[in-house]
Parts: sequence; structure tokens; C-alpha cells
Amino acid sequence: MNGFNMEEDFKYLAEKYNPDGEFDGKLYVQCNAKRGLRNADGTGIVAGLTRISNVHGYLVNEYERVPVDGELFYRGINVADLVAGCEKENRFGYDEASWLLLFGELPSASDLGMYSRLIEHCRKIPNNFIDDVIMRTPSRDIMNMLARAVLALYSYDEDPDDISEVNSLRQSMELIGRLPVLMVAAYQAKRRTYDYKSMYLHFPLDGLSTAENILSTLRADRKFTEEEAILLDRCMILHAEHGGGNNSAFVCRAVTSSATDIYSAVAAAIGALKGPRHGGANLKVCDMLDDIKAHVKDIHDDDEITAYLKKILAGEAGDGSRLIYGMGHAVYTKSDPRAVILKREAERMVDEKGYRDDFTLLDAVERLSPALLNSKMVDDTGICANVDMYSGLVYRMLGIPRELFTPLFAVARMSGWCAHRLEEIQTSHKIMRPAYRPLTKKRVYVPISERGDN
Ligand code: COA
Repeated sequence: MNGFNMEEDFKYLAEKYNPDGEFDGKLYVQCNAKRGLRNADGTGIVAGLTRISNVHGYLVNEYERVPVDGELFYRGINVADLVAGCEKENRFGYDEASWLLLFGELPSASDLGMYSRLIEHCRKIPNNFIDDVIMRTPSRDIMNMLARAVLALYSYDEDPDDISEVNSLRQSMELIGRLPVLMVAAYQAKRRTYDYKSMYLHFPLDGLSTAENILSTLRADRKFTEEEAILLDRCMILHAEHGGGNNSAFVCRAVTSSATDIYSAVAAAIGALKGPRHGGANLKVCDMLDDIKAHVKDIHDDDEITAYLKKILAGEAGDGSRLIYGMGHAVYTKSDPRAVILKREAERMVDEKGYRDDFTLLDAVERLSPALLNSKMVDDTGICANVDMYSGLVYRMLGIPRELFTPLFAVARMSGWCAHRLEEIQTSHKIMRPAYRPLTKKRVYVPISERGDN
């Protein structure tokens, strides 16, 4: 077509696009619309009921939120006790957490053994899947590749649309077993295609935990220490679940409520987790850490760090978002239990791995930020470091490439998503269908010949 210039056309459209501008914040109050599905005090609206987990971050006294140390319960069991139990017996714990989330009880030793064997079996990816789905159409972004791979698994499932509990459980275990393998393969394909580096596709080994297999298949020489694998395992336990209201679990439940297949629901959840306001924040923390290191001369000088944090909040430094990544949470006030445990676990390895300075700097950000952020909060319940403050550091110490930080979160969270899907199928039987209040008035349709040409 004569005069066709796509770039110019897009530019024109971009200039033209601004039908509304932003909504005035007051409109939400006037219309009683819950922005971000939140109440005015920042608490989430109650969108459903769950027995899977409980994120406890404050008490309510005389209608006011009272800050408390955060606690996270999987099926009523404190996640700190779950981690402590594994530590005491010096064993891996992710399968136990996964079983607990799916089945609602702690597994007996024989049930746990059987579950681990099943997951092991599920690591065997269907013939040609890696070649056809991952190698042929790799992606720079592993979360994008994982979402596509999960959707593609639909075609390899002989009964993909059966949403009965038995079939959903089978599909859940397959996804829990397969996602780590798909993640590593997706990374290797990306390395080869986009980074021009060698690709190695190790097979998962029987008898190894999920954490051990991830490290073993990710590394060229397949070598890792027990301490490294244990650290990754603990990280996975802490990322396995976080309530029905967290964005990706909610997305999984919303999509499930239409009675569609598990692959559609989980792919959508992966898409939600990819966002920097959700699972993508651990990458942002690492970028922020590098940026602070590059601009702050003395990492032991609190005044210098505070001055730089102020610049970040003013949008004059960092990525311009005015956010101090790794700080803040929708529910936790005084502390995020996952951050507390991960910080403790991470510190055990920082000297051996040469990351003491990074640890010191993150600790300083955690100490110094609340004083700068408190004025932004809706009430005076305070602000604490969240799980992402230390998870990136842990992954760095384990030599895990940054492209896999968020995918590792997805791998661990698969158990939580599947538990929520099963619960939604079992208990709700109602399609989620909230309302959006329309703000436009009726207008008259004008024929195209009468609209003029701008
Ligand atoms: N840095 C700068 N400002 C922050 C902040 C942070 N770390 N955390 C919260 N705020 C701001 C919010 O943007 C909000 O400002 P606004 O009213 O102008 O929009 C205000 O403080 C109140 O926030 P609050 O309601 O307590 O938080 P939230 O529930 O809306 O958001 C997070 C929670 C996690 C999205 C938010 O704290 C954040 O963006 N943190 C940084 C990113 C991050 O670490 N994400 C990982 C989550 S596990």
C-alpha cells in the first residue's frame, strides 16, 4: 500500500491513545470500587475461603491494624517448624511441603517415599517434547518459555480437559515433577540460541531431591555440595505457597473457576508471577544491589546509603520506579517470616562464597529503609523486608543465572498453585465474575461520513 509506514502509524496511534487519562483516586472511594481488590486500609477484600495456607501479618484491634511478626502456615503448620523439622533430621523438605499443601496432612514416611518416587517418575518428559517445544522455539525469557511449555503439555495429555479430582491430582504431580526439568532445558536453549554458549542437557538422576536435580542438571560438571542443595531446598519450601490472595494463586483460581483445563490455569499463573510487582522482584533487588554498590563508596556508611536510598525514592536513581525493591508487603508488617529464615540460611554461606559485602548492604537497606518509607504507608503498621530481599542473594551464591531467579520461584510455587486449583474445583463451583463500574455516559453513534477527518 502506498505511503504505508508501520512505525509512523504506531507513533500516530500512540499519540492518539489516551481516552481517559488516569482515574482520580477519589472516584474509587465515591464508587466504592476496590482498587487492586483492596480495602482503604490496604487489606485485601475477602474473595474466597481456603484451608491451604494462612499469611499472618497483623492483628486488628478496635478496627486498627496492630503490627506483629509475620507467620506463614501451610495447612495450619508453621512453615518455620517445617523448615526446623527438616533441619533437625538433616533431610530435604520440598516434597514434604508439597504433599502437605496438596493433601492437607503431613505425610507418613512411606507416603512421602511414594510421593518422591512419583515426582521422580514425572520428571521424565514426553518423547520429543524438549526438541519440539523448547529447542525449536526458545525464548530469551524463561518464564515466557515455561508458560508456553505448560500450555503445550496440553497436547501431550490424553485427558487434558477432565477436571475431576483424581485426574487433576495426576496432572498436578506431573507439573510439579516436570517444571524444574523444563526450566533447565529452557535455560540451556536460551544459552545456546541467544548467548552463543554451549548447551548441555543432562538427564535428571533418580534418587535425588528436586533441589539436587536442579543443581545437577544446571551445572556442566553436575557437581554440587549438600549444603548448596539444602539451601536451595529451604528456599523452595519458603516459596511453595502464599495464600489464595497472592496474585498468581488468585489468577490460577480465577481461570480455574471457568472450569477450564489445568494447563491454561497454570500458564496464566506463570504469567502473573513473571511481573516485577510479584515474582520478578528478586531480580529487581539484585539490580538495585548492583546499582547501590556502584554508587555508594562505603557500604558501612549508613548516612551514605540513606542518601542514596532517598535518591531512589525520588526517582533520581535506580530504575526510576521510586521503589526500594525487597521492602514492603501487602500483609506482613513487622517481618516476613520467609525473609527472616532465608536471611539466616543465606548468612551461613556468605563468607564461604565471598558475598559478605552484598549481605551487609542488603542488611543495611533492610535497616535503613523503614524510616524513609513509613510516611508513604496507609497506616503506621510499618514496613519490613520481604522474601525477595534475600532470595536473589541465595541464588547468586548458588551460581544460579539471573534468568532463572523468577522461574525457580515458579518451580517451587507449582505446588501451591495446584493445591489452589484443586481446592477451587472441589469447593467453589462458581465462576469468578467481579464487576467493573462503567463511567461513560451514553453517546450517539455518528456515521463515519459525518465524523470529519483529523
Ligand atoms: N518502595 C517505595 N515505595 C513503596 C514500597 C517500596 N518498597 N512499598 C510500598 N511503597 C509505597 C506504595 O507504592 C504505596 O504508594 P502509593 O500509595 O503512592 O501507591 C504506599 O507505599 C503504600 O504501599 P502498601 O499499600 O503498603 O503496599 P502495597 O500492598 O500496595 O504493595 C508491594 C506491596 C510489595 C507491591 C510494595 O511494597 C512494593 O512495590 N515493594 C517493592 C517491590 C517488591 O519488593 N516486591 C516483592 C513483593 S514480595
